[in-house]
Amino acid sequence: MSKKLTGNQIRQDFIDFFVEHGHTAVPSMSLVPGGDATLLFTNSGMVQFKDVFIGTDTKPYKRAVDSQKCMRVAGKHNDLEDVGRDDTHHTFFEMLGNWSFGDYYKKEAIAWSWQLLTEVWGLPKDKLYATCFKDDKGNVPQDDEAADIWKQQPGFDPEHVLFFGRKENFWQMAEFGPCGPCSEIHIDLGEERDNLRGTDHVCGVNGECTRYLELWNNVFIQYNLFEDGRLEPLPAKHVDTGMGFERIVSVLQGVDSNYKTDLFTGSLEVLRSLTGHTEKEMLADFTPYRVICDHVRSAAFLIADGVVPGNAGRNYVTRMIIRRGARFGTKIGLNEPFLAKVAEAVIAEYGDFIPNSKRIRRPF
Ligand code: ALA
Repeated sequence: MSKKLTGNQIRQDFIDFFVEHGHTAVPSMSLVPGGDATLLFTNSGMVQFKDVFIGTDTKPYKRAVDSQKCMRVAGKHNDLEDVGRDDTHHTFFEMLGNWSFGDYYKKEAIAWSWQLLTEVWGLPKDKLYATCFKDDKGNVPQDDEAADIWKQQPGFDPEHVLFFGRKENFWQMAEFGPCGPCSEIHIDLGEERDNLRGTDHVCGVNGECTRYLELWNNVFIQYNLFEDGRLEPLPAKHVDTGMGFERIVSVLQGVDSNYKTDLFTGSLEVLRSLTGHTEKEMLADFTPYRVICDHVRSAAFLIADGVVPGNAGRNYVTRMIIRRGARFGTKIGLNEPFLAKVAEAVIAEYGDFIPNSKRIRRPF
């Protein structure tokens, strides 16, 4: 990691890498998953490809790459409670993904993720771990295939393959639908990043502290899960990957919080100019800043996708997020309307990447 990459460069690196490997770059779908009654919001990159996995839709390409706008505030994947309390969760975030529709599978997916992380971005090989699936219910075979492929990657420490069960290593987008075992890549950020240092706790991959960070999930979609719990093999096998964009940016920029990446610099500066806090004062009471930056970004993207604040469903969530952002403002002395000013910084940051974000005008 010789030069410090910007968030925009990191997103572009990801897309370029997979385009070079035969993928078609596709735009993010809306945060509103049209025609999908199982979801309130698009919660992962897979939503726009679900029907391709099931076999009821086809695309003119077999490999795709994208950065998908996601919201995880309701349903099976809900991160709302973690937002603000920690440095790695968001209500809205981007998920970088590469996709194979009945084309390549585990071997290529794992090799390319290793190459991108260690060769292109230069992450230290000895700090990376891979988790693979071992079924705690005993219905699905253990994923030794993925584990063996990991062990063949140049410089990968074979001791760094770990097995976990359904909660960690079997991915499904909703209560039913396409799903499969997954292999996650985690990074050891070092002892100093253990927020529970000195206490008795599980310090390891999928442990209790913040030392080990999940970066990237490679899902091997091969089953369809039915409402009655039946798991049936799909006609073809697919790859669905998701890397938390804000997390990889924090790692590559060498900061200890997603909110300290350049993605949030503009929003934090606006907020700090309003509160008059020094950087030190802001960091001493960072939670309100994190919550406000997160919630304004979410609300701006929701409104850009046509979800206005209201009383029910998606509209209610949008209103709730805006109100929550305003409420956290009072905790740092902001009693006049301020959210729109922060939203301007969001628009400035994202205008070039997300085409319709420039349509967001004074959303609050
Ligand atoms: N669909 C997978 C996830 O969201 C990649 O983690």
